Amino acid sequence: MLVLGIESSCDETAAAVVRDGKEILSSIISSQIDMHRPYGGVVPELASREHLEKIEPIVREAIDDANVEWSDIDAVAVTRGPGLIGSLLVGVCYAKALAYGLGIPFIGVNHIEGHVYSVAFENPEVEYPALALIVSGGHTNLFHIAEAGSYKVVSRTRDDAAGEAFDKVAKMLGLGYPGGPVIEKLALGGDASKVRFTTAKISDGRPDFSFSGLKTAVARYVRENGIEAASNGHAGQETKDLAASFQAAVVRSLVGTMEKVAGELEPKTLIVAGGVACNNALREAAEGTAKRLGIPVYFPSKHLSTDNAAMIAAAGYFHLRRGERSDIRMTADVTLRLQNFENIDAELRRSKVRYRL
Ligand code: KG4
Ligand code: ZN
Repeated sequence: MLVLGIESSCDETAAAVVRDGKEILSSIISSQIDMHRPYGGVVPELASREHLEKIEPIVREAIDDANVEWSDIDAVAVTRGPGLIGSLLVGVCYAKALAYGLGIPFIGVNHIEGHVYSVAFENPEVEYPALALIVSGGHTNLFHIAEAGSYKVVSRTRDDAAGEAFDKVAKMLGLGYPGGPVIEKLALGGDASKVRFTTAKISDGRPDFSFSGLKTAVARYVRENGIEAASNGHAGQETKDLAASFQAAVVRSLVGTMEKVAGELEPKTLIVAGGVACNNALREAAEGTAKRLGIPVYFPSKHLSTDNAAMIAAAGYFHLRRGERSDIRMTADVTLRLQNFENIDAELRRSKVRYRL
């Protein structure tokens, strides 16, 4: 089955052709990073206008690059949410019109589930139950996946996402946007033991994440120690040490929690995906955890860690194969969550705990 995947939830317009959910025939990504950089973050209105400009040429390029004809495509999979409404709508409307015109089925895909499926390409089959850490600019969650398609959120962030913390700290240090790659590069020349940041503990004892306290601690450190913002990408030793210490604190929190939860749930596979999974310190720490637990950990290759359409096609394929289809009334859903209703903790449902995905 050839699935055309389309992704436009945030600041990447992407299209991919994937065979049987595993083989990438093409994967085209048009990033808007340069356009948003002067603003230090994604500007939603600019993002949706740019998606509108790019969607058609990018999809055409994906078809050409895969060396297939329109008539070879069996189905269309498109990101339905979560994301920015204007951005999502461009992909959703385009995908619906295309599928309707071609007379083929289409399916709306949860973007986070797409990240889970980003490991489908260059790794062995995932053995279930699995535990997936999805860390990006908008999301930080641990999912217990009892079997393919069954998701339970076991950890969530109470405030900022991990990638968002990287971006905000980078902004504070004058390092530009996006923050993750710059901080990782600076951290290579820094000493992570120079500043000891503590990992947030959640008062109700849940294994949740919190990064806003860490961000405030970095801001205080910058102020109290007179750390100068980097200019033209040149940063002093103190800034490098700070970057390394901050990165180590984020990794400790993410991987420490994953290890603790894995000790309780005893998964057969660990998955680490999402933009922050590009980070080598995170990968190394997760590999250490996997080794201690005696199970494999799968990462997407780096270009599949950040937003792309191949992962959307792979997740879509899984649902299409089960006979699921979306109908023409399907629309974008900015707050879409990845959790099967029957898996929601009764306790959480009663206490109406609100959290960000
Ligand atoms: O998955 P993604 O492309 O978009 C969202 O769905 O949010 O993730 C982007 C995020 C940004 O916050 C960026 O700073 C972070 O991933 N990121 C990294 C690295 N590369 C990207 N964070 C840490 N280390 C990296 N090397
Ligand atoms: Zn993403």
